Amino acid sequence: MKRIIELLKISRPIIQGGMGNISNAALAAAVSNAGGLGTIGCGTLHPDVVEQIILETKNLTEKPFAINIAIGVTDYSKELARLAIKHEVPVVTLSAGNPGPFVPFLQEQGITVMAVVASVKHAKKAEQAGVDILVAEGYEAAGINSNLELTTFTLIPQIVDHVDLPVVAAGGIGDGRGLAAALMLGAEGVQLGTRLIATKEAPFHDTYKQALIRAQGEEAIIVGRSVGRIRRILRNPYAEELMLAEKNGISLPDFNLMTTESQHILGAIQGEMDKGFINGGQVSGLISTVPSVKELFGSMMEEAEKQIKTVSCEWEEMVSE
Ligand SMILES: Cc1cc2nc3c(=O)[nH]c(=O)nc-3n(C[C@H](O)[C@H](O)[C@H](O)COP(=O)(O)O)c2cc1C
Repeated sequence: MKRIIELLKISRPIIQGGMGNISNAALAAAVSNAGGLGTIGCGTLHPDVVEQIILETKNLTEKPFAINIAIGVTDYSKELARLAIKHEVPVVTLSAGNPGPFVPFLQEQGITVMAVVASVKHAKKAEQAGVDILVAEGYEAAGINSNLELTTFTLIPQIVDHVDLPVVAAGGIGDGRGLAAALMLGAEGVQLGTRLIATKEAPFHDTYKQALIRAQGEEAIIVGRSVGRIRRILRNPYAEELMLAEKNGISLPDFNLMTTESQHILGAIQGEMDKGFINGGQVSGLISTVPSVKELFGSMMEEAEKQIKTVSCEWEEMVSE
C-alpha cells in the first residue's frame, strides 16, 4: 500500500476509474479532495474539451489527479499525452491499448504512468514497457471489458505473483469489505467505477443512480460477446434492444454504432433509458445509498479496518485453540 500512496501522493488507497466522456471536474476533484486519486476520463473527447476539464479540476483541487487515455478508443492519444505534460497532470492512466509508446514520453516529464490490464500476459508487457503501477481489472467491472473474462478474485493474485509493480484492483469493489479483500489478494489499492456513480458529486442522471440502487448484481449484464466487444451495462430498455440486435446477428460495425458515446450520454447523463445504455458493474447489487465521495471513502476505510481487525482476531483465536 505504501508504494501507491507514495507514488500517487494520495492519503487513501482509492482511485477513481476513468469514465470516458461523462465524468467531470467536480467528481474528479471530489475524489482527490477526499484523499483518493480523481480521474478525468478522456474517452473520445476532443483535447480542447479535456483541456477545459483539466483547468476546471485544477480550480477545484490542489491535490493530484489523473487523466485516463483509452488508447484504442480515442483518435487523440498523442495530443492528450501532450496535454497532460502541458498542464503538469501528475498521473496518466492508459487503457484499451498498448501503453508502450507513451511510457517514456510521459515519465521523462515526471508523470506517473498507470496501465489497465486484464491478464498476466498484458501485465508483464506493461511492466516491460516501464509503467509505474498496474490496474488489474476483473470481468465484474462496468464498461468495456477484456474478452478474456478473468474475474478480480483470481486475476489479482496471478498478476501480483508475476510482476514486481504495485497492483491496484478494479472490478467489483464498492465497500470496505471489497477494499480489505483486495489488499488480502495482494493489491495495494482499489479502483472504483460503478460505486462512484451513486455519489452526490457524480454528474449522472438521478435515474442512473436510482437504477444502481434498485439493481441486483445479475442485472449488470454483458452485451457484445457475439461481436467480440464485451461491455458490462445495467439492464434497461436500451440494453434489451442491444440484446435483441445480437440475437438477430448484428455485425460489429453496427453494434459499435449502437454503443457510441452519444448513446452512453443519453443514458447516463440525460436519463433516457430507452435511448441510451448505462455502464454498471456487478457491484451494483451492493449499492443502496448516494453518499458524498468523502462519506463513501470514510466508511470504506472504517469498514476495511474493522474487517481486517475482526478477521485477524478470529484467526488468532482459531489457530491458538
Ligand atoms: C460509466 C463508466 C465509464 C467507464 N469508462 C471507462 C473509460 O473510459 N476508460 C477506462 O479505462 N475504464 C472505464 N470504465 C471502467 C472504470 O474505469 C473502472 O475500472 C471499473 O468501473 C471498475 O469496476 P467497477 O465498475 O466494478 O467498480 C468505466 C466505468 C464506468 C462505470
